[in-house]
Amino acid sequence: MAGITDLPFRLQARRYGADLLVSEMISSQAMVRNSLRTKRMASSEGVEAPLVVQIAGGDPQIMADAARMNVELGADAIDINMGCPVKKIVNTWAGAALMKDEELVGRILEAVTKAVQVPVTVKMRLGWDNNQLNGETIARIAQAAGVRWIAVHGRTRAQMYQGKADWQAIGRIKAAVSIPVIGNGDITTPQEAKHMLEISGVDGLMIGRGALGRPWLFQQVKHYLEHGESLPEPDVEERYQTVLFHLDHMLDHYGPRTGNLMARKHLSWYGRGIVGAARFREEVNHSPNGEITRQLASQFFRTASCSIAEMAL
Ligand SMILES: Cc1cc2nc3c(=O)[nH]c(=O)nc-3n(C[C@H](O)[C@H](O)[C@H](O)COP(=O)(O)O)c2cc1C
Repeated sequence: MAGITDLPFRLQARRYGADLLVSEMISSQAMVRNSLRTKRMASSEGVEAPLVVQIAGGDPQIMADAARMNVELGADAIDINMGCPVKKIVNTWAGAALMKDEELVGRILEAVTKAVQVPVTVKMRLGWDNNQLNGETIARIAQAAGVRWIAVHGRTRAQMYQGKADWQAIGRIKAAVSIPVIGNGDITTPQEAKHMLEISGVDGLMIGRGALGRPWLFQQVKHYLEHGESLPEPDVEERYQTVLFHLDHMLDHYGPRTGNLMARKHLSWYGRGIVGAARFREEVNHSPNGEITRQLASQFFRTASCSIAEMAL
């Protein structure tokens, strides 16, 4: 997820059992232009494997070059973005716009799979809109090009993030190919994860927004699928240690100033649902440095025991 699945977030998700993590979307153009910022987005600093790096773009040659550069920098797999609905991206004929041009999809996937030895994967939607539901065709093209697995977000581009993800439609795409298909969209609880598996028959699950401020969701889902029972919500101390882990990695990864700014949204997600969260968010948003933010987090999460206990009821 752009702006979210940076190295600190991925380390946190890994701690809680996520098997496979994908970098933020990286512009193939920026990569080839050698942008330092872009390289940091794909960086795993040697502490993370396997790392899937997602690239976006619409030019087969540039995509192939960007894929190769990312593999040289340590990517263990390359994911091609065919799902991003944002205007700025689709207007450059990238992201979800690729689904409108099946021939171009074929050329991009051929070029990238030829360029690198590591697995190439695809992230896509059901189609551009309800009149162009060609997810099954795109999946077959991907399979023929040697793509190793496909993740499907069960919405069209026209839906953006509105409505509900269609898990049955994901199941139809799963049935159209023999390579693994990963289902994505609207999984926020272990029970929903199980339901998605039952409805779609997919081979794996991808969770995005449901893990914001709740990285333990990965562990809860795995436990529920394996043992059929729900794990309790983390207690106050674990929650606090989780927040601290994330904050400290942000400060370390981005440096004290930028890290402090970038940690704001995550702290706000961690605080969601706890009494006093609005005031905590306000204080964090005005915190001048990481040390003060740390103190605010300590005060807030360590004294939040009553409200967290209430949430669990
Ligand atoms: C802020 C934000 C950024 C996202 N960035 C990306 C991205 O860079 N690449 C991608 O494939 N999907 C991206 N997505 C889409 C998610 O990966 C996922 O497909 C979508 O949110 C539905 O799954 P969920 O309900 O589990 O969140 C993004 C979603 C959000 C909300």
